[in-house]
Amino acid sequence: GREDKRPPVIWLHFQECTGCSEALLRANHPSIAEVVLDIINLEYQETLMAGSGDQAEASLHNAIEKHAGKYILVVEGSIPTDDMAVCCQIGGKTAVDSFKAAAAKAAVVVSLGACACSGGIVAIEPNPTKAKGVIDILAGDMQWSDDDLKNKYISLPGCPPNPHNILSVILYVATFNKLPEKGLKIPSIANLSMKDERAHRPTFAYGRLIHEHCERRPHFDAGRFVREFGDEGHKNGWCLYHMGCKGPETYANCSIIHFNDGAAWPIGNGCPCIGCTEGTVLFKDSLFSLA
Ligand code: SF4
Ligand code: SF4
Ligand code: F3S
Repeated sequence: GREDKRPPVIWLHFQECTGCSEALLRANHPSIAEVVLDIINLEYQETLMAGSGDQAEASLHNAIEKHAGKYILVVEGSIPTDDMAVCCQIGGKTAVDSFKAAAAKAAVVVSLGACACSGGIVAIEPNPTKAKGVIDILAGDMQWSDDDLKNKYISLPGCPPNPHNILSVILYVATFNKLPEKGLKIPSIANLSMKDERAHRPTFAYGRLIHEHCERRPHFDAGRFVREFGDEGHKNGWCLYHMGCKGPETYANCSIIHFNDGAAWPIGNGCPCIGCTEGTVLFKDSLFSLA
């Protein structure tokens, strides 16, 4: 038969809400149907696949063997560890064991979303399941070297992350057979350790602050601020800085590419940015200040 040139993708779900997958399902250029049918060879994805139980387990095992050394492994969700590893099990295997088996033979490992990148909401103190992000397992248990991490790991934080960024990364890897340029190019954190998740974010998506590209920025510059939800400034789309907006310290491109096929994004909808791409610390701070 004809050789299938589409890049094989294996997508694992661990401790998560499936919001990352849901965001992807709402992308429309290209649509998820085109992506799954024409562009990638999606071998395993629990939200989208028809199979279940033993059949699904077998297809995961077969995909890992058949495409060993060639597949893109996408991970959604955090991984519980130590004595809490039992908190997430699929087909009788712990998340950490399933992850290690799949990561060992992957060409590239992508952590998709705050949960997979740094533990996200799941890892907020007191982190009852001892949840970790993917890079902690790669650099820890699996002892990936700095070079392994540099060449084979990429991080796409956000809650959810923008679907166009994962599509871009998959298509880039399929086309050029390497990862896109990574790193934040921010002087204060330019020399991050390779074991720091932030060193592995693609520059095209996380290279700049939201505040630099925000449609409300002219209001910030002119001193026009929302002071209360529903006030005149809020109705007029003024700057959300005094409502706790984290745009000035959050690196992401949602201000430019938006979600839901370009229709919306948090600040555009009148909600301050909660720094969902910035790891557990800023994110926790925002969640509690909004609550
Ligand atoms: Fe859900 Fe956010 Fe975690 Fe994605 S990163 S699985 S949207 S909680
Ligand atoms: Fe900056 Fe937030 Fe104001 Fe936009 S809404 S200009 S990101 S402070
Ligand atoms: Fe997240 Fe802030 Fe964008 S909350 S989606 S980084 S506006």
